[in-house]
Amino acid sequence: MTYAAITGWGMYVPQQVLTNADLERMVDTSDEWIVTRTGIRERRIVGPDESTVSMAVAAARQALARAELAPEAIDLLIVATTTPDQLIPSSACLVQTALGATRAAPMDLNAACSGFVYALATAAQFIRTGAARAALVIGSDTLSRFVNYRDRNTCILFGDGAGAVVVQPSATPGGVLSIDLGGIPGTGDLLEVPAGGCRLPASPETVAAGQHYITMQGREVFKLAVRAMGDSCAKVIDAAGLSPEDVTLLIPHQANLRIIEATAKRLELPMERVFVNIDRYGNTSAGTIPIAICEAEAAGRLRDGDYLVLTAFGGGLTWGSAVVRWGR
Ligand code: ACO
Repeated sequence: MTYAAITGWGMYVPQQVLTNADLERMVDTSDEWIVTRTGIRERRIVGPDESTVSMAVAAARQALARAELAPEAIDLLIVATTTPDQLIPSSACLVQTALGATRAAPMDLNAACSGFVYALATAAQFIRTGAARAALVIGSDTLSRFVNYRDRNTCILFGDGAGAVVVQPSATPGGVLSIDLGGIPGTGDLLEVPAGGCRLPASPETVAAGQHYITMQGREVFKLAVRAMGDSCAKVIDAAGLSPEDVTLLIPHQANLRIIEATAKRLELPMERVFVNIDRYGNTSAGTIPIAICEAEAAGRLRDGDYLVLTAFGGGLTWGSAVVRWGR
């Protein structure tokens, strides 16, 4: 039996900080409203020379160093993103070039904020079946370039960032133990960027109408997110033959502290067993979970044998969860 173990991890967030006080000067909002409704205090924003690809490369280099793996050893390279540098080539191709991952099959994967879990699930299948020997899984998003900083409903939530993991085969029982992925049909309009695709290509009219920005019906997304993540976590915990008491750490997508708390409550997990860094980064989309993995590890909160539950939801709407037993 071959298991798919996480053997390296890395993250990158831009230097530039956008605080709630900064946003108070841009839209009709307040630090108090943002903190109470979302738990966010500040987020990171890319500089002019940074992008989804540059952040992905920085996170990937750390992950490869941690795994003590040369870029040439990677044979599958997945970038989960909804904010690629360009439509063609894929961000994964650009990352491949920057890293010198000459043997890798590069591809982008779009499942919005659930993207990292989808990419991890995909990589785990390749590793378990022997179709790949070393996979690099990156979640990287630059939502600041798609946010309307005059729309208080969305601009307070999002930040930029990237995280990466290396997945390799292991004979030791562990790694990615169970997966649950899904989508909710008919909910596409709850969170969308209406223009810029083939249905509504970029034109002076679409730009003038602000149709390249994210629009969101937050209250609806909130309700569906709590239900989807709660149900999905219960499923993966059960599928891994565990019960919620066995879960050492829940690493949820960081979209809203109240969504995280509601998910933890549904699983009857105390907040001490839930990783939260939304206060510092906001919602970095596909970046939240791998960034959280890095910070949890650096804080000494991941030990070999620990059972982690990763769970996310995002535009689509989509959801994805996984149980991971930490260690090689
Ligand atoms: N500052 C001050 N007031 C605000 C702000 C703001 N930034 N934004 C909205 N309000 C106002 C609204 O206009 C409304 O006023 P009204 O009552 O006079 O109409 C009031 O605050 C309450 O608005 P709600 O939308 O009901 O506020 P809610 O408590 O639901 O919080 C929020 C809004 C934070 C967006 C929440 O619904 C949420 O987090 N939803 C989930 C969103 C999410 O996670 N999206 C990411 C998905 S992942 C991806 O794929 C990118």
